[in-house]
Amino acid sequence: ASSLLKMSQVVRSATLGKRSQQWLGSLRTTLAMGCGPWAWSSRQESGLSRESRRWPRVPQPSGGAETGVRGALAVTLNVNAKDERLRQVMDVITRHLHAAVKEIEPTQEEWMQAIQFLTATGHKCDDWRQEYILLSDVLGVSMLVDAINSRRPAGASENTVLGPFHIGGTPEYEMGTNICLDGKGEDMVVRGRVLDIDGNPLEGVKIDVWQANDEGFYDVQQKGIQPDFNLRGVFRTGADGSYWFRAVRPKFYSVPTDGPVGKLLDDLGRHGNRPAHLHYIVSKDGFDEVTTHLFDPDDPYIDSDAVFGVKKSLIADFNRVDDPARIAEVGFEGDHYWDVEFDFVLAPKG
Ligand code: BEZ
Ligand code: FE
Repeated sequence: ASSLLKMSQVVRSATLGKRSQQWLGSLRTTLAMGCGPWAWSSRQESGLSRESRRWPRVPQPSGGAETGVRGALAVTLNVNAKDERLRQVMDVITRHLHAAVKEIEPTQEEWMQAIQFLTATGHKCDDWRQEYILLSDVLGVSMLVDAINSRRPAGASENTVLGPFHIGGTPEYEMGTNICLDGKGEDMVVRGRVLDIDGNPLEGVKIDVWQANDEGFYDVQQKGIQPDFNLRGVFRTGADGSYWFRAVRPKFYSVPTDGPVGKLLDDLGRHGNRPAHLHYIVSKDGFDEVTTHLFDPDDPYIDSDAVFGVKKSLIADFNRVDDPARIAEVGFEGDHYWDVEFDFVLAPKG
């Protein structure tokens, strides 16, 4: 057991965070007190088969389940995990799950309700619907995972959720093209530049954009009502790093609420709305790809996005233009349009 202890110290300092280190420290104390989970030698002596010798023995807690000891001990069965990262992940999840159950003290009925919720969430998933991603979105976990994986230098454009409505095969257009294919909604011009972190314009940047229409629906949600690829387009910046295209002002919409996640939101007294936004994927070789949105600051849900996707730096200005000369200049025929200017800054791949 002592060489195993040494080994666990090496693994601990090499790969685990401070909190995990504290936890392993307390496990070490437990072992030192003589109730450790590793019992190879006594099993070897008792002549058990090689296979059974490989399993650590989990001591029984003396003070009942409430002592919380089981949470720490359950993970000791994972010492033979084939993958160290898997072991780490399951150790953390097991400990936190035990802590949550200890704090909540669910009844058997409540625990069954939780299991039924997860079962229903799985049943709602198919090739077109991923209810678990939606669950992760409305719990703010998708944004957290993204934040962990997209740390960028100050000044670089920030990411937000991808969402389920991005599709491949979107046509590439000339700059200035109107991506609204059915003429419905209030006209809008979106324009700006793509720059590197030092402020230099970036040429040939791919800008993949998609948005909901003026009623809050994506084309893929209204097959046969909206034309295919409505309000989607791919553009490439010119030598001065600039881009512009025409579209219509998007409207807020609800995430799908006809499944268990929608019921959960309802039971929690939460709405499922996302403030009006345009989606962007901005990419160029050698630079960190940016998957993000532009948000409309005047949207009623700008401060309560159901999936926590709003970031201050992604809120654009939507300026109303009524000047007939400017309306004619951008090729619209109505009595006004919305002008949105937004620059992107790409960080070098790191
Ligand atoms: C979206 O913006 O398209 C979206 C994001 C998360 C969940 C549902 C929709
Ligand atoms: Fe969206």
